[in-house]
Amino acid sequence: MGTKKWAWLATRRLQVALLLFNSNRFSYLRNSTFSAHLVIASLTPAQQKREFIPTDAMLPLGARCYNTDMAIERVIDTSLHEDDSEERAVEYSLRPTNFNEYIGQRRLKTNLKLAIEAARKRNDVMDHVLLYGPPGLGKTTMAGVIAHEMGANFRATSAPSIEKAGDLASILTNLADGDILFIDEIHRLRRAVEEILYSAMEDYKLDIVIGKGPAARSVKLDLPRFTLIGATTQAGNLAGPLRDRFGHSYRLEYYANDDIQQIIERSANILNTKIKPEAAKLLAERSRLTPRIANRLLKRVRDYADVNGDGIIDTPTAKNALDMLEIDDLGLDPADRNMLTLMYEKYGDKPVGLNTIAALTGDEASTIEDYLEPFLVQMGMIQRTPRGRVVTDIAKRHLGL
Ligand code: ADE
Repeated sequence: MGTKKWAWLATRRLQVALLLFNSNRFSYLRNSTFSAHLVIASLTPAQQKREFIPTDAMLPLGARCYNTDMAIERVIDTSLHEDDSEERAVEYSLRPTNFNEYIGQRRLKTNLKLAIEAARKRNDVMDHVLLYGPPGLGKTTMAGVIAHEMGANFRATSAPSIEKAGDLASILTNLADGDILFIDEIHRLRRAVEEILYSAMEDYKLDIVIGKGPAARSVKLDLPRFTLIGATTQAGNLAGPLRDRFGHSYRLEYYANDDIQQIIERSANILNTKIKPEAAKLLAERSRLTPRIANRLLKRVRDYADVNGDGIIDTPTAKNALDMLEIDDLGLDPADRNMLTLMYEKYGDKPVGLNTIAALTGDEASTIEDYLEPFLVQMGMIQRTPRGRVVTDIAKRHLGL
């Protein structure tokens, strides 16, 4: 058989294989309700139901058991609770869909607006975007806003769910021109999968090897022009070649308390809950500068106000509810206080390694690094040194240690 014919046959076989593969792997693409342009008509009702699960639902829960007599449930946890569909639905309904609704992150919005306007003027797709920063600050939300503002389909998935190169090939070949592909936790992509992304991002080609050994052949397929938005809490763990392929790279910052207060008031309005400005301010001060926590606290305080009062959240109600949840003036909860206290009691002013802290609290090291530590570092309660983490004087004063 001639080389040309062989190549044609191989390409055809790959396309058919991908088609078959896609028919049951399409659930990797989880559409977002952000987008008014959902392409789900081809899915069965059961699949459609699955397609609406927000991507963050796939975020790891992490261990939630601390070295105390009782496991502590964290209200101010920045991960989304995978198994709580009601919580996911509410969080989803509170997400802003466009720049006007999105509060805070002004510098990021200014830069993105310009990039979007330029792309739209050129009738082109936007350069690939990397969004990084601590969890709960709105990376997924911002990706949805970008898709909305571009008038593009929003296709969301997360790196841990892309197991093989074929999974990513399937996702890429299902994209349409102009689509936004969102990959959460992009630092967790496997090497073999990541390498497929390089040519896909650079020149919209799917460069894939079929077969093994001497029979292995490299095949290139054209892909639609798309924009990849990658989100990560660990930009430092991204491979250089991947990082270099993002035209835009932005860090999401912690929010100012005023912005968090506005977010709480907006969310209360959507939830049909009355909250006094002073109470919203108090909640904002204890929300760890993080919208996801602010919204979670709002819902818990709303429950308290419904059960113990007339449903209106005023300052005494908010205070009582927060006391009941054991969230202190700076937004620290029992898990934070437990970690800082254990570190100080066992190691004093000496640096403590991440794995040692994990052993002390019973958490995964990654849970501490991604979810517990960033806010404590931001507040100056933990100092990161090359030899480990140190409890600072600010923390000692706050906890009376
Ligand atoms: N809800 C969660 N994050 C938000 C934000 N940045 N602006 C408005 N509402 C939000």
